[in-house]
Amino acid sequence: MMPSLSNSDELIFFVNGRKVIEKNADPEVNLLFYLRKVLRLTGTKYGCGGGGCGACTVMVSRYDPKTKKIHHFPVTACLVPICLLYGAAVTTVEGVGSIRTRIHPVQERLAKCHGTQCGFCSPGMVMSIYTLLRNHPEPTPAQITEALGGNLCRCTGYRPIVESGKTFCVESTVCQMKGSGKCCMDQDEKFFVDRQEKMCTKLYNEDEFQPLDPSQEPIFPSELIRMAEDPNKRRLMFQGERTTWITPVTLNDLVELKTSFPKAPIVMGNTEVGPRIKFRDEFHPVFISPLGLPELYFVDSTDDGVTIGAGYSLAQLNDALHFIVSEQPKEKTKTYRALLKHLRTLAGAQIRNMATLGGHVVSRPNYSDLNPILAAGNATINVISKEGERQIPLDGHFLERSPEARLKSEEIVLSVYIPHSTQWHFVLGLRMAQRQENAFAVVNAGMSVKFEDGTDTIKDLQMFYGSVGPTVVSARQTCQQLIGRQWDDQMLSDACRLVLGEIYIPPAAEGGMVEYRRTLIISLLFKFYLKVRRRLNKMDPQKFPDIPEKFMSALEDFPIETPRGIQMFQCVDPYQPPQDPVGHPIMHQSAIKHTTGEAVFVDDMPPVAQELFLAVVTSTRAHAKIMAIDASEALAVPGVVDVITAEDVPGDNNHHGEVFYAQDEVICVGQIVCTVAADTYAHAREAAKKVKITYEDLEPRIITIEQALKHNSFLTVEKKIEQGNVEQAFKYVDQIIEGEVHMEGQEHFYMETQTILAIPKEEDKEIVLHLGTQFPTHVQEFVAAALNIPRSRIGCHMKRTGGAFGGKVTKPALLGAVSAVAAIKTGRPIRFILERGDDMLITAGRHPLLGKYKVGFMNNGVIKAADVEYYINGGCTPDESELVIEFVVLKSENAYNIPNFRCRGRACRTNLPSNTAFRGFGFPQVAVVVETYITAVASQCNLPPEQVKEINMYKRISKTAYKQTFNPEPLRRCWKECLEKSSFSARKLAAEEFNKKNYWKKRGLAVIPMKFTIGMPTAYYNQGAALVHIYLDGSVLVIHGGCELGQGLHTKMIQVASRELNIPESYIHLSETSTITVPNAIFTAGSLGTDIYGRAVQNACQILMARLQPVIRKNPKGTWEEWIAKAFTESISLSTTGYFKGYQTNMDWEKEEGDAYPYYVYGAACSEVEVDCLTGAHKLLRTDIFMDAAFSINPALDIGQVEGAFIQGMGLYTIEELKYSPEGVLYSRSPDDYKIPTVTEIPEEFHVTLVRSRNPIAIYSSKGLGEAGMFMGSSVLFAIYDAVAAARRERGLTKTFTLHSPATPELIRMTCVDQFTDMIPRDDASTFTPWSIRVS
Ligand SMILES: Cc1cc2nc3c(=O)[nH]c(=O)nc-3n(C[C@H](O)[C@H](O)[C@H](O)COP(=O)(O)OP(=O)(O)OC[C@H]3O[C@@H](n4cnc5c(N)ncnc54)[C@H](O)[C@@H]3O)c2cc1C
Ligand code: FES
Ligand code: FES
Repeated sequence: MMPSLSNSDELIFFVNGRKVIEKNADPEVNLLFYLRKVLRLTGTKYGCGGGGCGACTVMVSRYDPKTKKIHHFPVTACLVPICLLYGAAVTTVEGVGSIRTRIHPVQERLAKCHGTQCGFCSPGMVMSIYTLLRNHPEPTPAQITEALGGNLCRCTGYRPIVESGKTFCVESTVCQMKGSGKCCMDQDEKFFVDRQEKMCTKLYNEDEFQPLDPSQEPIFPSELIRMAEDPNKRRLMFQGERTTWITPVTLNDLVELKTSFPKAPIVMGNTEVGPRIKFRDEFHPVFISPLGLPELYFVDSTDDGVTIGAGYSLAQLNDALHFIVSEQPKEKTKTYRALLKHLRTLAGAQIRNMATLGGHVVSRPNYSDLNPILAAGNATINVISKEGERQIPLDGHFLERSPEARLKSEEIVLSVYIPHSTQWHFVLGLRMAQRQENAFAVVNAGMSVKFEDGTDTIKDLQMFYGSVGPTVVSARQTCQQLIGRQWDDQMLSDACRLVLGEIYIPPAAEGGMVEYRRTLIISLLFKFYLKVRRRLNKMDPQKFPDIPEKFMSALEDFPIETPRGIQMFQCVDPYQPPQDPVGHPIMHQSAIKHTTGEAVFVDDMPPVAQELFLAVVTSTRAHAKIMAIDASEALAVPGVVDVITAEDVPGDNNHHGEVFYAQDEVICVGQIVCTVAADTYAHAREAAKKVKITYEDLEPRIITIEQALKHNSFLTVEKKIEQGNVEQAFKYVDQIIEGEVHMEGQEHFYMETQTILAIPKEEDKEIVLHLGTQFPTHVQEFVAAALNIPRSRIGCHMKRTGGAFGGKVTKPALLGAVSAVAAIKTGRPIRFILERGDDMLITAGRHPLLGKYKVGFMNNGVIKAADVEYYINGGCTPDESELVIEFVVLKSENAYNIPNFRCRGRACRTNLPSNTAFRGFGFPQVAVVVETYITAVASQCNLPPEQVKEINMYKRISKTAYKQTFNPEPLRRCWKECLEKSSFSARKLAAEEFNKKNYWKKRGLAVIPMKFTIGMPTAYYNQGAALVHIYLDGSVLVIHGGCELGQGLHTKMIQVASRELNIPESYIHLSETSTITVPNAIFTAGSLGTDIYGRAVQNACQILMARLQPVIRKNPKGTWEEWIAKAFTESISLSTTGYFKGYQTNMDWEKEEGDAYPYYVYGAACSEVEVDCLTGAHKLLRTDIFMDAAFSINPALDIGQVEGAFIQGMGLYTIEELKYSPEGVLYSRSPDDYKIPTVTEIPEEFHVTLVRSRNPIAIYSSKGLGEAGMFMGSSVLFAIYDAVAAARRERGLTKTFTLHSPATPELIRMTCVDQFTDMIPRDDASTFTPWSIRVS
């Protein structure tokens, strides 16, 4: 029986100290939506909707009537149904501080430490640190890192964010090396500041920081305390549009309800129920939520074990276990310690504070990190129902959902009992994931062994594995067969054989990585074996031999450290006027607004009257004929206004090969077929699911480069450059090697998904679009084509965007056209916000690349000839593929002078979504191939790679393979300094020593040089314009054609204008970029923004200053305001455009030569890693980057670009892995299955130096640094290579090998061949279709 509507209660909670009474609380509404759309608190951001990114972090505070304490904890608002909030106080970023009132020290420090770039993640970062400080006003650095583990940032590389948090730590000092506890000036390493060069290390001034005063924090509302203590609490019920929410207040009531509604989920943390509803379209008419019910919250410790209430969050569980561990003797706490280890890395802090023990145990995810350990530790579950209480063993049967161990649907878990371990009983948890924290395990395990007292004879053995099948599985037969055996190598060998026989992962298993997972099953078992042997030895060294010394390092997982490092840059000339900001590390112009949440992104803009929301319907086939589109059911959904298809496009539906709405046929999975416009997004989305499209598959379906080559399917003609005589040179070399390198693609994962607000005007067919783009002109062009109207009617406005990285160069034009068509058809404004999954599916990313090389060289490592071919997977339409392949070819020599060199490249047409621009534009892909063959040459010659690199590197003024002259002097300097200052040789020797002593962990170092091109080979792409107005009060408005993407372009423009006009920065304002103010602007990309717009702004300012000169000369002592007032009375125009014609570049592809680029940026990077050969995990120990910045206009912003790009590059080359089905379906569509680096991946020690050089061609002799750092990330890949090579050598594998990119844990593990990889069953590739395939 459904509860009646009339019983709906008022939902009462507080937001930022204000009481909220919601009379129509809808259980389907989450807090993120409520904050943003109902309360209009838009500081809290949407990044993924599934708890995986932290952009929506807020603090929830609750009063506990039992302890009389207030608990503050972070949550991801996207997973909190508002109905869960009854009696809670929510604090959002707006409640922490505001520019209008007072900013909070957390906000101030994050901004001033340069911890924001695009600012989209910043409110979430603020809330995570703020919540930590509410609980621990003087946190440790480890607590800061832990608090940030659930927050993704795609721009900064985290270092400055962590640093801002560390300023609150007690041990924090002024020195930026504070993590080491040593001053940077006293480092043993030669990492010193060379005073001769006048290098600075202070990017901010901590003396400016306001102190943290915890007494200033808002007081918890007393009304909520009264509500919590109310003895007459009664059942609450909230009735929504389709669902009912019931909150019982007594256990009896809960039992009654669960009996009446056995299928209703018990919503506790909602971290399992929420994502299932959102991503798997589950529907529940009734929810029961006993959150806060006292019977579910307790810890009961007895002599035998501990019982923990099912309502305890995983964070509370963590605290409770820590307490028990501190109280009890060590031998009793083995299970608890195993759980604690996994609790540290399970999801992020927000999820751990929401998810409950009961929810975790009941939902039994196959990847569960806790259940295998609980089972191994013999835990039991206490359940209650109308029939009374009973205990269920939390064992293999329960986890495998066997019918005999079924939890009945009307049963409620009250608590979990975990017995103490005993002296001869060992319990351990083991786990391997793509990323150390906040990533589901690839394979995990809980294992326990009980020995006959005083012996190593197995009395009981239990092994549970996660992520090897649809549930956690028990290796019970294996365990059974080993009872009575000694704990020795023979037992291990039998155990491995048996477990591989018992746990079978089929070759086409969902999730892929089949051989890797099989290997992990026994590698983890081996770790368990070693750990137990070690402990036995500790207990009785006489009886039980210790494990070999060389195996010791296999025991421990990598620790999570708090990163530290130094950033060095040139000091400002002491003679420079103090008012001139150029060269100073000025904070990002919008930084404070970012951290207070007051920076407005497109979806933060208030609703426009009559606006509609758009949802997309995308193709599910890679190549098919559209037979029919049936939208009738969709149109019947309440609130739906229209369904828009290709038929509705008034102009061109195909503009330069880019199709807006699929017509007749689809050419990739994810192509937009139609859109649905409705009054709410929920309605639009619901209706979109109801659109029925029938297809007929077409041949061929081309997904990979290999398939494209087979079908001769290309988007471009071949591009080629050649120098010397390649064929001839091959005849005279000592050795020739040939090989292939595969480099997979990358998802931009900008934190703000593509967003568009399209507003049709009533007059003259005008239309206005607000959107996040790198190229407003392109949007204007596409919209004009789609609507068949002149561009002059279209205004595209771009204020800021939450990261772009190339992904917002072309795609917003397509999406803009799609929205504009919908706006015109419906005659109403359209709000089009792509969900994360749609964004990842539709907009594609970096081009996967296949490199084929043939290299001829002498035995001393000198390369005489190289013949290389490159193919990129362009996807289904041209997009930027032609330009990318040109860049690939032109950049293909990197820093090396190969006298006989031929490079050819072609973009393949496939049935994947069209790949597009991405930071580095082909260079990060191609340069990895170069480094790979150089490394292979070194291996063949038995020489260290750095020596072969140095031998072949450009040394003096030279010509590139396309005959452009350049001077590599800064390259040599960066390289030399990098080797010296990183103590490369000494550390390499130390790593070799380490490797000799450790069999299962290996260290590797690599240093890479870089010659990176800036700008475009087409001259007119390098032009830029600006518009500067001086108002009569002296204030100045600067407008230019560049887009603020987080890189700080506007901040640098203020610095330029301030210097040129000789006025303080505070006089200068920058508002937005628009096609109305500066027409025909070229994209903001290619590291060129500051170069071209800096020159344009400079030009405008100089024109204005020239006009003002007569006035100034007449009154030299006058003020700026006086001069402006006077100029006006003398009818001097105070407004002008500025223009930069651009660098005069050219490339003649016929002749294969040209001055293709205005200049080069050089650099070198050195990284050191440690690899766990048993799991494939790696830890980045240290990175040193030397980047040729010439003269840095703003070192804070430039270092931010270098660091951010490096971390993004590191992600590209190591953990970011896109998974495609053989049919071309992208599986990885959320942060759950696409892992960008988090705070735990960044180097433990991270040093960045901006190297001074000259670059007279660019403004103030600067250089563009937006992209160059990306390739530096490959130093991690090659350091991994070095470590893996050491492992392989030790195992007798001396042949040169290739490490393709990304060097994922899977690839690393499977390349470290050993007895375990030899043992696993292998499948004949011709007998099955794999779950996912490589597309490069
Ligand atoms: C972003 C993210 C990352 C994650 N990462 C990890 C990870 O790395 N490792 C890992 O192991 N897990 C991970 N998880 C999963 C997480 O541990 C579980 O979702 C969580 O423990 C479920 O608890 P909950 O309280 O939120 O359950 P809910 O979603 O509230 O409920 C889940 C299910 O349990 C039932 N239920 C809840 N409580 C009871 C009760 N007392 N009695 C009977 N039935 C009950 C409900 O009916 C429902 O069916 C992650 C989840 C998210 C969202
Ligand atoms: S939007 Fe909530 S975690 Fe990503
Ligand atoms: S600043 Fe963190 S995502 Fe852009």
